[in-house]
Amino acid sequence: MRSVDEMFLWNCWYAAAWEHELEGGVKLARTFLEKPVVIYQGDSGDYVALDDRCCHRAAPLSMGRVEGDCIRCMYHGMKYGPDGVCIEIPGQDTIGPNHRVRRYPIVSKGNLLWIWMGDPELADPDEIHDFAPLSDSNWRGFEKESYLHYDANWLLIVDNLADFSHLAFVHTNTLGGSEDYAFVTHPEVDKHDDGFSIVRWSRNDAPAPYHLKVNPDAPAKVDRRNTVRMHTPGLFFMETLFAPVGWNADGDDFEGVKQYRNCQYMTPETRTTTHFFWNYLHNYRLDDPAVSASLQASLLEGFMEDKVIIEAQQKLLEMEDPFAPRGLAGDVSLAHFRRVWEGMIRTERETYPGVERKVGNPLL
Ligand code: FES
Ligand SMILES: [Fe+2]
Repeated sequence: MRSVDEMFLWNCWYAAAWEHELEGGVKLARTFLEKPVVIYQGDSGDYVALDDRCCHRAAPLSMGRVEGDCIRCMYHGMKYGPDGVCIEIPGQDTIGPNHRVRRYPIVSKGNLLWIWMGDPELADPDEIHDFAPLSDSNWRGFEKESYLHYDANWLLIVDNLADFSHLAFVHTNTLGGSEDYAFVTHPEVDKHDDGFSIVRWSRNDAPAPYHLKVNPDAPAKVDRRNTVRMHTPGLFFMETLFAPVGWNADGDDFEGVKQYRNCQYMTPETRTTTHFFWNYLHNYRLDDPAVSASLQASLLEGFMEDKVIIEAQQKLLEMEDPFAPRGLAGDVSLAHFRRVWEGMIRTERETYPGVERKVGNPLL
């Protein structure tokens, strides 16, 4: 297995939490890139992300108490400002320059909190890939957006999303529809400096079961198109449509066409585990909450099918027995993504070390 140095990119924005996960004064303990972080919302409404270990004896600040925009460690009472600097030590007048914890830039966009784990000086919120439908009232998503935890390296999830032929076999009865989906299409792949895009038509094919559930009167055959875009560090956006057979994609007649928008965010928790955030939005029957509820349940069912096979892959790849993957033509997108990713990490290591060299722990 690769070292952490070769695995993580630090200077980029990662999806950290849906806003609703912080509701009710939650102090969210979540690990990113093998660093424990506490996230909370202060009284001012601002979000704060700090190292989750008190600088005194490493008690979790997520077990602490939010006071205004500050947080107090509930072991011996050190109080930290939202910048991570200690402002009060009970029973002690002096506060040293090292009495502080690391602060991580955190920004909310489209109901999603984004965290920057690298050099805070380089964090530019304008670089966040905002997914427009999340903030557009013409699209309806889930009542509460979804989160899944994966016992697998996040690149295995990227691989999964890079080749939709798996829909035919992993998701036959949920997201796929028929095994034909793996055989009849010839996806157009475009390689980009920060990922890839794919357009995959499946013409005159059965509608996907999840679509049929909310559209029981859909015709037996449809033309289906998935247009996907994957960005580093693991941001996936997809436009899906189901149209009458023979539909002219270059025209402007959307009669009988049903559309969806999907975002999926993969954030490394550790080298072998991943945070996975997602939403699936539709733009019809917007006043009917049953549509998004059904889509959420169907998509979850499908994503659990992915999770089972990807976590099983992870287990086998962790074995000592060496494994050399054999390539297939459909690997073009995932192979490109991994090349881009490794290049970005090599470049970043020239200027930013990522992890401190001296990893030590004198308390244990
Ligand atoms: S561990 Fe936090 S104040 Fe002692
Ligand atoms: Fe899948």
